Amino acid sequence: MSHNQFTNSRCIAGIIPGVDGEDGAGVKLKRSIGRNPQSRLDPFLMLDAFSTRNPDDYIAGFPAHPHRGFETVTYMLDGHMIHRDHMGNEGELKAGGVQWMTAGRGVIHEERPIAVEGLMRGFQLWINLPSKEKMKPAAYQNITAEEVPRVVLKNGAVIKLIAGEIEIEGSVYRGPILSESSAESTQPLYLDVSIPPLAEMGLPIPAEHNACIQLFEGEASVLEDELVVDGVSCLSKGDGVVIATSEQPARMLVLAGRPIGEPVAQYGPFVMNTMEEVEQAINDYRNNCLVE
Ligand code: CO
Repeated sequence: MSHNQFTNSRCIAGIIPGVDGEDGAGVKLKRSIGRNPQSRLDPFLMLDAFSTRNPDDYIAGFPAHPHRGFETVTYMLDGHMIHRDHMGNEGELKAGGVQWMTAGRGVIHEERPIAVEGLMRGFQLWINLPSKEKMKPAAYQNITAEEVPRVVLKNGAVIKLIAGEIEIEGSVYRGPILSESSAESTQPLYLDVSIPPLAEMGLPIPAEHNACIQLFEGEASVLEDELVVDGVSCLSKGDGVVIATSEQPARMLVLAGRPIGEPVAQYGPFVMNTMEEVEQAINDYRNNCLVE
């Protein structure tokens, strides 16, 4: 059985291990992409994974803080998170839900996980914006689990399509993220993929996109190389990736985006092209004019 329908199948080109860290008011997380400036994967600036049964690890949350120049994408696998921003958006992100926030010129928001029975688990991804989109108005999309298309393949694999478009088994599927209000330039693909044991699946990925896989359950491989757990496996360029499982099922995020190729100047929650622009963002925040 081989689904290698691609002319140039992507392989694992590098690993970014996840490192234990803390952010906000003391939320325990594992950061892979963005744990240092060398560990970015254009257009992805940061990927944090959180997974705990202990409310002390997350209950302090992320009190009000600013962002400018990029997008933050929060995907909850288990647990609940309350969100509130300066535009008056307020919502409760539940298991399987996604919050896609385009900071653009500026957003001030707070993110507060709620104590729940059992597991609190999810991811936050930061996606950069090119200079021409960094100062666009802030925008926010809240997507519930029910709004995320769930594609079941012939081999039993399940793809939850959060952002982007894929053509698979002869049909085209689109995620709920509206590219006209978000991510025009980076055209991100954000998939949550579950693969049963002893299966193989091919996923097309636009050839110019950078791509990576964050495995978070089970074991799987790409062209005989094992995917890392608790970190990110970066893929080479190519028109698709073939993922195989052995005796265990596996679940993973597959992330891809068109690289921006511009200089990145970052200071905490401000990501611009130059340090002058970052200083401007800091001054705007201090002078209460970060947001319109
Ligand atoms: Co934030």
